[in-house]
Amino acid sequence: MTKILAALTVLSAVQAVADDKIVGGPYVIHVDQRSATVHWIVQSGTVTLTSQGGKGDKSAPVLRDEKVSFTGLTPGTTFEYALPGHADVKGSFKTAPKDPVPFQFVVYGDTRTRHEVHRHVVEAIVKYANPEFVVHTGDLVADGADSSQWPIFFDIEHDLLRKVAFFPSLGNHERNNQQYYEFFDVTTPYYSFNWGGGHFIVLNSDIGNVASSQVLRDDYWKEQVRWLEEDLQHSQSADFRFVIAHHPPLTAVERRQGDNPHMAALMPMFEKYNLTAGFFGHDHNYQHYLRNGIHYFITGGGGAPLYDVKKPPPGITQKVESVEHFVVVHVDGKKARVEALRLDGTPIEVTEMVSH
Ligand SMILES: [Fe+2]
Repeated sequence: MTKILAALTVLSAVQAVADDKIVGGPYVIHVDQRSATVHWIVQSGTVTLTSQGGKGDKSAPVLRDEKVSFTGLTPGTTFEYALPGHADVKGSFKTAPKDPVPFQFVVYGDTRTRHEVHRHVVEAIVKYANPEFVVHTGDLVADGADSSQWPIFFDIEHDLLRKVAFFPSLGNHERNNQQYYEFFDVTTPYYSFNWGGGHFIVLNSDIGNVASSQVLRDDYWKEQVRWLEEDLQHSQSADFRFVIAHHPPLTAVERRQGDNPHMAALMPMFEKYNLTAGFFGHDHNYQHYLRNGIHYFITGGGGAPLYDVKKPPPGITQKVESVEHFVVVHVDGKKARVEALRLDGTPIEVTEMVSH
């Protein structure tokens, strides 16, 4: 009897492994000069909710994230890898360079809801750009609490994320859900990193979801702003300083003007510490403003339904267009070129910036 039980236990264990399939990644996060974490997501099964009367049945995958972290890597070097037990699941990434050599990165965001458009955006990035890393401006999925949406996101992103480093920011549609924290190995959703001569600061602008009370939300924002100022102070020797966040401080979307006073209130600090440019999302279009020497880009054309650009702020507007797109940034020494591209590769706008 004991032997039969043992055999059944082994059989069920084998069955569990056999049912496992990779439904996310591989993708590489936390990349700097000497370290990186390879991540992937495994589905071990499906849970179906059956409702009385058969209305509203729903199923969702059982997901777990797996990862491996590396340290002691060589800066500015391309590494290839394959996942254990899946020799055909391969990827590559490049570590951040030690010196300010030329590099390219892509910024895009708001990839939720229209999966076919999101797929076209990823195909266009792969076709028209060759970034070392990509930065996502948030709203990766429509509902970060819904387990069924993450495998769709990662399936669409597969050909891009298996060959670049990924730096996400938290959008309101992630709902501050634990799955975002698990899948991107996040301890604090605001962070900074260096790449060549560039310093990148990623903020969590979604304060509406960080806590249940106004007092706690205010405390959270106060601490984040304190951290931001300290980080800006310490990055003054970089050639370029970039901020990335989901909610924009400015917008041409008629019904949304003045929606994000917490972000608008940061603009004097950006000026004080000589920010080069900010990249934001949340509004599903392309917008570019130049205000007191700082470039503000909104790149939320990654798949979510497009929004209008009816009311561009006077005096500072460089370009607005309601169109699906992505942004490619080329950094070369003291010069940077920002190319906003439509999905057919045609430019919406090209902006030259110099280190100052
Ligand atoms: Fe949003």
